[in-house]
Formats: sequence, C-alpha cells, structure tokens
Amino acid sequence: MESIKQTAQQVAEAIGAETNPNAPSNSGEMPGPSAYPIHSQRDEGKTVGIQAEMGKDPITLKQEGDNGYELYKAANKLTGKKAIVTGGDSGIGRAAAVMFAMEGADVAIVYLPEEETDAKDTERLILKNGRECILIPQDIRDEQGCNRIIETVVQRWGRVDILVNNASVMYDTPSITDITTEQFDRTMKTNIYGTFFLTRAAVPHMSKGSSIIVTASQVAYAGPPSLLDYSMTKGAQVSMVRSLSNQLLSKGIRVNAVAPGPVWTPLQEAAMDKDTLKQWHQSPAPIGRIGMPSELGPAYVFLASSDGSFISGQTIHVNGGAIVNG
Ligand SMILES: NC(=O)c1ccc[n+]([C@@H]2O[C@H](COP(=O)([O-])OP(=O)(O)OC[C@H]3O[C@@H](n4cnc5c(N)ncnc54)[C@H](O)[C@@H]3O)[C@@H](O)[C@H]2O)c1
Repeated sequence: MESIKQTAQQVAEAIGAETNPNAPSNSGEMPGPSAYPIHSQRDEGKTVGIQAEMGKDPITLKQEGDNGYELYKAANKLTGKKAIVTGGDSGIGRAAAVMFAMEGADVAIVYLPEEETDAKDTERLILKNGRECILIPQDIRDEQGCNRIIETVVQRWGRVDILVNNASVMYDTPSITDITTEQFDRTMKTNIYGTFFLTRAAVPHMSKGSSIIVTASQVAYAGPPSLLDYSMTKGAQVSMVRSLSNQLLSKGIRVNAVAPGPVWTPLQEAAMDKDTLKQWHQSPAPIGRIGMPSELGPAYVFLASSDGSFISGQTIHVNGGAIVNG
C-alpha cells in the first residue's frame, strides 16, 4: 500500500500536482489507489476530461494492469451480441465496453472527437479480446448525428442488442445563480437529449432479449447542492428508465439504470477545480474510498445478459455503500 502512495507522490511531484495525504486506505476486495494526484482538467479549460491525461496518473491505475479488467472472469455471457456504449472511450463506459468484449460482444463506442486518444485505448482493449470495435466520434447532442450512429452500427452488424447510454457532462457549480444558460444547455442536451435521440433511433433495431442501460447517478437520489443541473438530468434518466421499461417490456426489451457513486474517472477532473477535487477525495463513499471504473463494469454485464432477464425498470446502485431511497 505504501508503495502505491509513494508512486502517486512521485507522479504528483513530476507534474507539479498535490496528493491527498489523508486519502483513505483501501477497503473491499478490489485494490485501488490510496493516494491521488490532485489534478483538475477543468482548471486547464477542458469541458470533457481525457483519461490519458488524468493527473498523469496511469501508474496508480496500472497497479491493476489494464485498468483492473484482468481481475474480471468472463463466462461467454454476451457471445455474438452487438453493443453500443456512449462515452465508451474512458471511465465507466470503457469498463462496460471492455467487459462486454471479454464476454464475447462486438462493441461500438461513441465519444467526442477530442477524446480520440482515449477511444484508441479502449479499441485496443476490445480488439485484444478478439472482438470487433467500431469507433464513432460523434457529439450526441446532434439529433442527425445520433441517427447516423445507429445507421453505422446497423449497416455493419445488422442490429443493436445492447445500448448503453453512458455519455454525460457534469460541472460543479455551487450556486444556481452561477449556472450559465450555456452550461445548462450543454448538460441537458448531452445527458437528456442525447440519451433520448439515440434510444429513439436504436429501438426499431432492437428485439426480444435486447437491453437498454442508462448510466444515472447517486446524485439523482442524494441531491448534492453543487450539482443542480447535472442532478436534474440524472433524475430524468431514472424516470425515463421506468417509463421506457413499461413501454418496451411487451417487445421483450429490458430497460435499466446503473447509479454509480464516486468513481475515479476523467469526468471528475473536468467537473471540479483543484480545491473542490481535493475535498471530493477527502469525502469518499461509506466503504472508505472512491470506486474504480472496473468495479462498475460487471453491473452492465449483468443487466445486458440473460443473468438480468427478470429485471427491468430498475436502478442498480454501485456506490460504495451509500443508502439511497429509490
Ligand atoms: N465518475 C463518477 O463518479 C460518476 C458518478 C455517478 C455517475 N457517473 C456517470 O457515469 C457516466 C460516465 O462518466 P465517467 O465518470 O466514466 O466519466 P468519463 O469522462 O470517462 O465519461 C463521460 C463520457 O461522456 C462522453 N461525452 C460527453 N459529452 C458528449 C457528447 N456531447 N457526445 C458524445 N459523448 C460525450 C465523453 O466521451 C466522455 O468519455 C456518466 O453518465 C456520469 O454521469 C459518474
């Protein structure tokens, strides 16, 4: 454990970032970093985070090999399935995409053009598992762009078995009076419109046994004060899942959500300035630490596969022990 802390310290010093000396030690079965370079991509003017630039922190992540995926034991649960994962270039989306591939699915990933480096890393991990990968750089705020995503996948693979609406943006803003219309618009358009546009285009190409999964968030239930616009979208996603499930179950299509708690991904570095990030690291989940993306992936496999065949309209809370109502 100490060596991980030393490594994180070395990385932090190399890039002039600070580590959190009070970072909690690990608990739970999954290993994870116990100290973090505090590095804000938001302070660098980024509107979306890049995993390859995360606190220049691949060393702590690589303590677990390919982001922890090799700890996952696949069992051919998605053989031959065709999946789409938005935001599959990094973080939780990458974990879902790679574990889908480990389970035998071909995966298309959707991301913003500026995230090509991360997308290539995910592609490498999918190909390494012997599956096909389609890289689709496309802003999901664009309605026609969402239609083109589905057309591209259907032209290549003929159908969509699994759709993971995972792409989102989040900007930490303490007061409602500081949320600009531009920010509000971007959050709504990405998290709600994009999810709606893509799902609407995909449903005609889905059939009995297909699965739609939305990455919601613990914030939909907890209501953190500085994530107002983002929380609004996550609440909308939970409601969408319930209503769409009731609509699509007659076609044999299940619709569910995963609601992560705090997870070590580029989203956080793009959302918070350095001081806020420091506070975030100092208030982990009840389990005593923040989560790793690879700890989220199995929930997506569960909901996408026949293991989850009796589950629809529900939200799985992968949040390190926070008790939420709903
Ligand atoms: N990291 C956490 O602590 C946490 C907690 C709860 C929920 N979530 C949710 O998890 C999901 C994945 O986020 P993450 O934490 O893995 O971070 P991430 O930055 O790795 O993923 C977000 C992805 O969204 C994509 N994206 C953003 N705007 C887009 C647009 N207009 N068009 C296409 N793609 C776009 C980007 O490709 C980006 O990779 C998000 O829905 C987020 O709300 C994350």
